Amino acid sequence: MERSSPISRRQLLGAGAVLLTSFPPALRAQSENGLLETTLEANNSWIRLGANYAHLFTYNGQVPGPRLEVRAGDTVRLQFVNRLAEASNLHFHGLHISPTGNADNVFLEVQPNESQTYEFTIPKDHRPGTYWYHPHLHGSSARQVSRGLAGLLVLRGEMDEIPEIAAANEHFLVLRDWALDRNGEVVEPSMMQRMTGREGSLITVGDAVNPKFEIQTGGMLRFRVLNASPSRFYRLKIEGHPMHMIASDGGPLPAPVAVDELLLSPGERADLLVQGQRDSGTYRLLNLPYNRGGMGMMGGPSRPTEPETLATMIYEGSMEVALNLPQSITSVEPLPPSDLPLRRFVLSESRGASFQINGRAFDHRRVDTQVKLGTIEDWEIVNQGTMDHPFHLHTNSFQILDPQGQPARAWKDVMLVPAGQKRRFRVRFADFEGKAVYHCHILDHEDLGMMGVIEFLA
Ligand code: C2O
Ligand code: CU
Ligand code: CU
Repeated sequence: MERSSPISRRQLLGAGAVLLTSFPPALRAQSENGLLETTLEANNSWIRLGANYAHLFTYNGQVPGPRLEVRAGDTVRLQFVNRLAEASNLHFHGLHISPTGNADNVFLEVQPNESQTYEFTIPKDHRPGTYWYHPHLHGSSARQVSRGLAGLLVLRGEMDEIPEIAAANEHFLVLRDWALDRNGEVVEPSMMQRMTGREGSLITVGDAVNPKFEIQTGGMLRFRVLNASPSRFYRLKIEGHPMHMIASDGGPLPAPVAVDELLLSPGERADLLVQGQRDSGTYRLLNLPYNRGGMGMMGGPSRPTEPETLATMIYEGSMEVALNLPQSITSVEPLPPSDLPLRRFVLSESRGASFQINGRAFDHRRVDTQVKLGTIEDWEIVNQGTMDHPFHLHTNSFQILDPQGQPARAWKDVMLVPAGQKRRFRVRFADFEGKAVYHCHILDHEDLGMMGVIEFLA
């Protein structure tokens, strides 16, 4: 097994070692007294993935990156140090924070061997939830995320103190897939694979292949699931157990919703409770086959036709008194109807490797959409392509509208639009001026142009 050559921190940092910060090799970083201050260093590392070693991009030498744990009202100050041989940056997916300056600004570029302080304050009334961070440099997003750069940002709040939820055993399921060669190097995709959206055949959950989770009879597990894959969809099912969804992308649901299976497209999150309702045995968390479409006969990746095992639940012991599901979690007020015209976004794929929104590929110098702070709008996303596209909007979460135009009582920041179909959501633009983006969260599609600039005007 080849290992990266041992380089001292001194050599690594070079002469002007002003960037020297000793980051703790911790799995998580938690805010204290309203401040989370830590360092994220992007670098190359050899990482063990199940039986394989892989040469990946890491934050602080870890995959996934350290889990950041914060609360509403906290200030986050991150020293991002770029030790990669290419430019990178950070995005805080799903957070309602400023998209400008050195906050959640995806237009920043951090060059190799440079560092950038990211700083923002999370609004006091921010919804708790499972958010995440990843690089967002146009043209490199898919590549850098596929090589390992992503981590959770967990915002804890009221829902986490509900006794039934607090009693559950919490696990973090960051779902990733990897395309590795025999030497453990990440395989660069062909143009056709990029157009389809790169996928790899090795799947990890957190830092493991097929991790085991113990559950007691009468006990309860809480799975915070993130699809951090650049392109792969996961259609989740647990053998013999319903899943009770308590939160989606942008925060808690009013009450648990029982689901037998759950489709998570790239960028989406789900917070699930699973009751230990069996006496014994092992039960698998499965990824069921799903066809997200492709670029004709030639371009489709060979997708599994059989369920794949992602993780395994193993019964071990039993509780004296069985844990219950919470009756209610929070109130989600539906957004009131908009008095502005419907805005329409048409997604299209072209064989010239240009992916477009309303006929235009991304250009960071152009503002595609201007909206006014304080207003509510309905957006319609029309997918004219042959692939499903998960549409993501920065800065403001939304409520998906049903076919009758009624908003769901759930906050989302990714909306899956199946091939050839259209979907609508309702959104209120609040608090933050400046420019941000919306895009397909199949990151290759974003890199190939399926992204636009939105400007929030005061
Ligand atoms: Cu998770 Cu603009 O992205
Ligand atoms: Cu985002
Ligand atoms: Cu797409």
